[in-house]
Formats: sequence, C-alpha cells, structure tokens
Amino acid sequence: MTKDFLSIAELTRDEIDDIFALSQEIKSKLKQGETYHPLKGKTLAMIFQKPSARTRISFETGMFQLGGHALYLAPSDIGVGTRESYADVARVVSRYNDIIMARLFGHEGMIELARHSDVPVINGLTDLLHPCQVMADTLTILEHLGRVEGVHITFVGDGNNLANSWLNFASKYPVKLNLAIPEGFDPDSAILKNARANHASEINILRDPAEAVKNADVIYTDVWASMGQEAEAEKRNKVFQSYQINSALIRHAKPNVLVMHCLPAHRGYEITDEVIDGPHSIVFDEAENRLHVQKAIMVKLLS
Ligand code: CP
Ligand code: NVA
Repeated sequence: MTKDFLSIAELTRDEIDDIFALSQEIKSKLKQGETYHPLKGKTLAMIFQKPSARTRISFETGMFQLGGHALYLAPSDIGVGTRESYADVARVVSRYNDIIMARLFGHEGMIELARHSDVPVINGLTDLLHPCQVMADTLTILEHLGRVEGVHITFVGDGNNLANSWLNFASKYPVKLNLAIPEGFDPDSAILKNARANHASEINILRDPAEAVKNADVIYTDVWASMGQEAEAEKRNKVFQSYQINSALIRHAKPNVLVMHCLPAHRGYEITDEVIDGPHSIVFDEAENRLHVQKAIMVKLLS
C-alpha cells in the first residue's frame, strides 16, 4: 500500500481484497471479545474542518480498540488552512502522532497535508472523495451477497464525493456501476474518464432512475446537498425530486435488492422512511462497518 490512504484509485484490487480480509478478521475478534492491540502506544490525530458522527466515533473507538489513543481536533481547534498552513500542520502533527485522519473541504488540502506529513494520512472525507465510506460499503455488500465482483450497484442522486469514490472503486474492482444523476450534477470528469479507461467495470451514467435501478442488486444514495452546499439545498431539493429512493423506485430493481445510504439521511428527501426502515435497508450494517474497515486500514498503514 502507499504511505497514505487518500483515494481508492491508489489501491490495487489485491489491496482492496486484503483490506476486506483483515476487516473481517478484526471484526470477528471484536465480536468474540478477543483483545487485539497491534497499535498499542500509537496515537491518531483526527483533524476536522466539517462536522461528523460516524467518522469521528468510529475512528476514535477503533483506535482505542486497537490499543492506541485518538485525539479529536474540532474545526475550531487547529484552523488548518486558515490559522496555519496545511504543510505546517502536517509537519507539527507528524512530530507528535503516528497517524493522521482528516476531514477537509478541499481535496488539495488533503494532498498538501499528506505531502508534508511524515506519518500516514487517511482521508476522512473531502468535497471530492470519501474512500473510507466506500470501503465500508463494499465490505457490507461482501457480507450480504458473499461477493463484490460482478455486483450491480446503482448510485442515485448527486455526482458528489460518494459518487466519485464509487467510480474509483469501479476503476479497480469489477462491478456493474450505474449512476442515475440529473444533468448538470455529474461526477468529477477526470475521475469518470479514468474509471472508464481502466476497463475494470461496466459504468453507465443515466438520467432516468427507474431505468438505472433495473435489475440492480444494490441501490445506493446520499444527500442531495453535501456539507458546504447548504445554501443550495432548496434549489437542489427541486432538481432531485424525482431521484428519491422510495417503494415505487425499488420495485424496478431485483426483488431482494439491498438499499444503502452512507448517512446522515435527509428522510423524506433522497430516501423515504418506508425504505430506510424497511426490509431492503442495510444502512446500519453499513455504518457499523466503518469501524471495522478503518481499523484494518490503520493497521495496514502502520505495519
Ligand atoms: N457517513 C459519514 O461519513 O458520516 P459522518 O459525516 O457522520 O462522519
Ligand atoms: N456527500 C455527503 C456525505 C456525508 C457523509 C457530504 O459530503 O456531506
């Protein structure tokens, strides 16, 4: 693996499979109550420019379970990129801590942080990517379907950091990835181009959600307005109205289709209560797997 975990595009398929295997091993140890402290004495600095529940809690808890210690650095603490440059923060934090996880607005800040850090940096979300989430998502699919290869996943909604991370995954791992996205909200063009050029997966961008979910094994959605886009929420709610995951839409997919959402969900907007609380939904398994997959990523980066 590379020094940092910034993007799934930097992994090989074998490395992805290794992360799945270690995640499952670590998860099973935890469920059996077995102590596993490979990171005893190590410290993780968690730098946040944006809010978080899952990312903060799963990284902090995960580091503790691995025998280490995590420091939560809130958006108002460091002022990375404003009070102090990304480069200087990276140089300083590297002198104190063994590993860094950051959640930032701009992806360039993440690259800058990693470039100047002597210790591994994990991307805990930027406006461009959310790789930890898609690793947890695909581990969840593996657990539910017994395989990831060849699975038909349809992402419905905004061409955001999650859509981009799904494309990066599809660029390395053979799946069928349909993206149902309204015109003008497409994913990052360079990421899409790269994913198609790699020929690992079949990738389709469609405008009609019903057509896109036809025969899908998994339907995936995320918020219509991401963190930082709050001012656009009203406009986006109108544009995305017909992209809601509801009972009528999931009838077009396979009868046992799995429904996923990275959370937090805006119930009644991108997904209805009926679906997210219904029998197809695996959103809380997905949230749980953030813990196990990130523990595996930390162990890999530090060994
Ligand atoms: N899915 C996810 O990253 O959740 P948080 O924003 O709460 O960390
Ligand atoms: N696309 C969302 C994901 C939240 C986990 C955001 O960036 O706000």
